[in-house]
Formats: sequence, C-alpha cells, structure tokens
Amino acid sequence: MDAAALHRSEHQQFLDRYYGWSRSIYDVTRKYYLFGRDQAVAQLLEEPWRRLVEVGPGTGRNLKLLHAQRPEAQFGGVEASTAMLEVARSACPWAVLTEGFAEDAEYRDLLGAPPDRILFSYCLSMVQDPEGALAHARSQLAPGGEIVVVDFGGLGGLRGPAAPALRRWLEAFHVTPLPRGLLESHARSILEGPLGYYRIARISRP
Ligand SMILES: C[S@@+](CC[C@H](N)C(=O)[O-])C[C@H]1O[C@@H](n2cnc3c(N)ncnc32)[C@H](O)[C@@H]1O
Repeated sequence: MDAAALHRSEHQQFLDRYYGWSRSIYDVTRKYYLFGRDQAVAQLLEEPWRRLVEVGPGTGRNLKLLHAQRPEAQFGGVEASTAMLEVARSACPWAVLTEGFAEDAEYRDLLGAPPDRILFSYCLSMVQDPEGALAHARSQLAPGGEIVVVDFGGLGGLRGPAAPALRRWLEAFHVTPLPRGLLESHARSILEGPLGYYRIARISRP
C-alpha cells in the first residue's frame, strides 16, 4: 500500500471508529454546533436544479430536508465512512449513496448525468486534501452547475480562549477549519455567519 492509500485507509478507520459509536446521537448533538446548515439548504431550495450530490452526507439529514421539499429531484451521496453510509442508506432509500472519498469520487455518473449542485456540509474541513477535493468537484459539475460549501469560518468573532479551545477540540476529531483563501480564490459569493463561526460559499464550474 502506498503512503496516500495508507493515509486514506487510516482516515476511514478513524471515521468508522468515531461514527460507529456516535452515529446514534449525531443529529441531536450536531444541531448545537454545526450552524448554517439550514441556511445552506434554504439557499439551495431558492433555485431550480434537478440533480444534487452531497459529499459526506453523514446521517442524511440535509438530503432528507431537500428531498422533502423537492421530491421530484434526483439525490446522491458519496460517503467515506461505512458506519455513516449504513445510516444514510436507511434514512434516504430514494437516494443513490455510495462509498467514496471527496478527492476522487465519481460524481458525474452517480445519477446518470452530471450533478447541478454538489453540497459539502461540514465535510470539507474533514477531508485530507480540501483544495484537491474542491477542484475535483468543480470538474464534475453539469454546465451552469454550482458547489455549495457550508463549514467552519475563521472564528474571528470568538473572544479570548474560545477560538483556540474550539480549534483544539475540533482537531481531536480530525476537523481543520478551512485554510484562509481556499474558498475566496474560487467562490462567486461567500456569506459569513455570526462571529465568523461558519461560512456559506457558492462556487461555479471552472
Ligand atoms: C461533520 S460530518 C457532516 C455530515 C453532514 N454533511 C451534515 O451536515 O450533518 C462529515 C461527514 O463527512 C464524511 N467524510 C469525512 N471525510 C470524507 C472524505 N474524504 N470523503 C467523503 N466523506 C468524508 C464523514 O464520514 C461524515 O459523514
């Protein structure tokens, strides 16, 4: 096994260990700190599209919200954790869900045609190569398609030890807030959440 494959397999093992025990309490606990997700879902629902793929759908909570409002659309998901994939498959039987990694998953053929929207909701901060994952997703969009990213921001509005403490806590769970400039260099718009806690970026095809 080469170094990249070993790194990936370690990442997957970590995800399966972590989500293996926490997946049953995931949705209840995450509503207290994965802010901005409902806003990103609402933004998506303001526009017409027919095919959407979520990268790292977790329990499928975003896909369920989107499907409830747009049942005629096609939904797909690519998930690195087999433990989470099991949950998402049972929650979203109408979606095409597959195991894969954000850096090189095949999004174009998942729904029979390239997706109009690719959603990264608190996933990009967990992937090992966020720059590569974004470039890859952009290359797989349908013409006129868009990527929507919602994830931790720079945390600039958190005072005193709050921001470093939050960063350390996130690090323990293999979460790294996105490097400054990553979204700026590609996004056509970025919405900053309160206190710099989260950001919602819209990124078009290259
Ligand atoms: C913090 S959870 C977010 C889940 C969901 N998107 C949400 O908003 O609730 C991150 C998800 O991304 C998945 N993930 C982490 N690294 C990944 C990668 N390289 N490729 C695909 N999925 C990944 C995790 O297994 C997990 O399900």
